[in-house]
Amino acid sequence: MIKFDVVTIFPKMVGAGLAEGVVSRGIERGLLDIRIHDLRDHTTDRHRSVDDVPYGGGPGMVMKPEPLAKAVECIRTERGIPDAVVLLSPQGRRFTQAEAVRLSRLQHVALLCGRYEGMDERVRTLVATEELSIGDYVLSGGELAALVVIDAVGRLIPGVVGDEQSVQEDSFSRGLLDHPHYTRPSEFEGLKVPDVLMSGHHAEVLRWRRKTALTRTLERRPELLEVAALDDEERALLTEIRKEQEKKP
Ligand code: ADE
Repeated sequence: MIKFDVVTIFPKMVGAGLAEGVVSRGIERGLLDIRIHDLRDHTTDRHRSVDDVPYGGGPGMVMKPEPLAKAVECIRTERGIPDAVVLLSPQGRRFTQAEAVRLSRLQHVALLCGRYEGMDERVRTLVATEELSIGDYVLSGGELAALVVIDAVGRLIPGVVGDEQSVQEDSFSRGLLDHPHYTRPSEFEGLKVPDVLMSGHHAEVLRWRRKTALTRTLERRPELLEVAALDDEERALLTEIRKEQEKKP
């Protein structure tokens, strides 16, 4: 079981993202314990304000530090001290499968969703223990990023996805892209399923899957091959693929 606490000004948006699919099943099974906190509940003024104008001027608003600090204080007393307090922002370290695996080994993760032009810098220094970005693009807030983190981490918790093997064989779990998949019909709009998959030769099927996964990775994300932990067979297959590609015009 892993605990998540999400701090947001859009609790309904986060709730909706947790209501279906693998994550909601994980919650029902008691494997994911997720609490959503409305940042405005931790404000002290009449208008429940969570943002203010930037010192030094300029456009947009900045998120105030006090409500976020109070929200995390409330999480500490009500839910225990989180192992990580993650600020979601485009300035963070890149969230990868390896980061998902690391977080899945923790017991309690708090996720702080930023909005507006930015977050008062003291949230970084005093409240968050780390900062993560889900990719090099700018979202209008951290909520979708928090949902991405919960989904990627949650599905690594044993029992959340029914089939453990499918989690292990997923794209990226070995640092490579996934091989192609096919189901019935055996021919669709003139395109046939590769013979080897219907041959019943288990070893051949495995070899084909490993080879196509490597081919895809080489063609689409060659940088992944530099860090992937390949075994002897995969290294041999890669040499074979490179030779075949040299022959092509
Ligand atoms: N908030 C806005 N953009 C983001 C991103 N790319 N990752 C995480 N949080 C964000």
